[in-house]
Amino acid sequence: MTTKSREIRLAARPHGEPKPQDFALAQVELEEPAAGEVLVKNLCFSVDPYMRGRMNEGKSYVPPFVIGAALEGAAVGRVAASNQSALPVGALVCSTFGWREAFVAPAATLRVLDPTLAPPSAFLGLFGVTGLTAWVGLWKVARLLPAETVFVSGGAGAVGSAVCQLARLRGSKVIASAGSDAKVVMLRDQFGADYAFNYNDGDPLQHLHEAAPEGIDVYFDNTAGPQLEAALSALKPRGRIAMCGAIAGYNTPIAGPRNLAIVIGKRLRIEGFIVSDHIGDFPEFFAEVGPALKSGKLQSHETVIEGIENAPAAFSSLLRSGDSHTGKMVIHLS
Ligand SMILES: NC(=O)c1ccc[n+]([C@@H]2O[C@H](COP(=O)([O-])OP(=O)(O)OC[C@H]3O[C@@H](n4cnc5c(N)ncnc54)[C@H](OP(=O)(O)O)[C@@H]3O)[C@@H](O)[C@H]2O)c1
Repeated sequence: MTTKSREIRLAARPHGEPKPQDFALAQVELEEPAAGEVLVKNLCFSVDPYMRGRMNEGKSYVPPFVIGAALEGAAVGRVAASNQSALPVGALVCSTFGWREAFVAPAATLRVLDPTLAPPSAFLGLFGVTGLTAWVGLWKVARLLPAETVFVSGGAGAVGSAVCQLARLRGSKVIASAGSDAKVVMLRDQFGADYAFNYNDGDPLQHLHEAAPEGIDVYFDNTAGPQLEAALSALKPRGRIAMCGAIAGYNTPIAGPRNLAIVIGKRLRIEGFIVSDHIGDFPEFFAEVGPALKSGKLQSHETVIEGIENAPAAFSSLLRSGDSHTGKMVIHLS
């Protein structure tokens, strides 16, 4: 017996902002799982800014998406049929097979999740790779200390909201930015920022001077662009930058900071990182984040979009500033 599944494929490489015609919704028939394989029906999948880079041609740290193939990415689903005794029907699993309703794959390629720890979608957000990205950037890359001050751009987004909460949990002072006044309120009231500002309203450097007249110790960069330039000026000598993302230039490349030479005199350390190099840190991450999530000290905030057919528009909106999305964006499948 076969199973029908819909998937979103890359139809064309976008130029600038992705358009509806750059994607295609297709239906496939899945065969029953062969020996060692399982059939998984997805409950939700992740929408991630880094996917924009994979839509371009050319070499990067991950291969580009293939035109005509389903978009890969993190997804959480349940085993619906199994030909591998170690992974029974009903098990909750995380995969990287992406924007599909269902798929057949070797059981060995899946990460088994404990459903008692968090709701399925949280494994894509604060309790998954998104939370790990914040955790690695703060503690392993920037090595933020409790008495220090961190500034995070994209603070109301998936990684940014995790950065705010994790840094506050260990006692650091948090300055965060976002692209609207409503998000600024959220940064203060829900994500614990000591000072929050709208980067579209006023000069980011003036905001940083007001928030931390003595300077900042760490900048967690999700955006690059004008906020990186401001952070370079606001950093104290021997300050650190964890370069996580550069979303301001994903659709259209932007120029680098004009004040880069500040790095020399201030002896700054700038370090980029890719979370997939740190999957081995998951046990240490779970040990800190698990209890904090259970006790309510950390909150997994999500923007939920229903239906696979709405994923391309949701993705395009993520690459724009706006109020339509906060926290982790996930697509729910019924
Ligand atoms: N290094 C890694 O391993 C790794 C892993 C995961 C994510 N990342 C990176 O981390 C960053 C955040 O990812 P995320 O998943 O948490 O996404 P997100 O922050 O939830 O969503 C993206 C946000 O970026 C902001 N934005 C859009 N265009 C912008 C622009 N031109 N200038 C400034 N901000 C803009 C928007 O917020 P506003 O409305 O507030 O502008 C939007 O909500 C991205 O750069 C991503 O590529 C890196």
